[in-house]
Amino acid sequence: MSNRRPIVAGNWKMNKTVDESESLAREVAGVVSGVDDVDVVVCPTFTGLDRVSAAVAGTNIEVGGQNVHWESEGAYTGEISTAMLLTAGCSHVILGHSERRQFFGETDETVNRRLRAAIEAGLTPIVCVGESQSERESGTTARVISAQVNGALEGIGSDDVARIVMAYEPVWAIGTGLTATPEQAEEVHAQIRGELAGLAGQSTADGVRIQYGGSVKPDNAVELFSKPDIDGGLIGGASLEADSFAAIVKAAES
Ligand code: 13P
Repeated sequence: MSNRRPIVAGNWKMNKTVDESESLAREVAGVVSGVDDVDVVVCPTFTGLDRVSAAVAGTNIEVGGQNVHWESEGAYTGEISTAMLLTAGCSHVILGHSERRQFFGETDETVNRRLRAAIEAGLTPIVCVGESQSERESGTTARVISAQVNGALEGIGSDDVARIVMAYEPVWAIGTGLTATPEQAEEVHAQIRGELAGLAGQSTADGVRIQYGGSVKPDNAVELFSKPDIDGGLIGGASLEADSFAAIVKAAES
């Protein structure tokens, strides 16, 4: 890891009721309270945001949404606005997760629209990219990543690129127990940084945090986070239990 401040985020996906979310947030706050050199974020479901934000107020934990719409309000059933996230206590928002791309028709263009709205609202976006198993097997990973990064960030100025967190999540590694090797992950992280340099200049790219996501567990986190371009993780399954999430957070400490 470099001098970039690591960021570890728990993506709770569609798990936990409101009460369960609040309990988990309190537990996480208890076990990571001594960590002061890693940004720690939890991303509950929309219904859990308000109570989780209240539960972690005054701690070192920040809260993120799992998506946001580009319009500020209106007839968009099932969507959520930046103001709704902000007033529910969010500082972060996950965008372009592969599950949104795979199951809900998210595209680079819609990710770009959501990203512009998030930046405009002052939310810190966590922009996810990643190739599928068949794309990796057919040797098109670099092309897919390039298209996703450049598509999602199209037209975003370098000052705003500097505020983005990227997440590399190979689809074949999500929830499968298959983790990219640290070398496989580093290769793509370095490529993403190169794409960012092309968009916003090398010095901006050097400051952007790039998380790895995909079956990160306490026993593989240290090795992954030791790679030069891996600046923390976006954690699914292992973030649903406070002790395993805390162990991963601690693996990112310098
Ligand atoms: P898992 O850690 O469960 O593989 O999920 C990763 C992920 O998709 C985080 O956004």
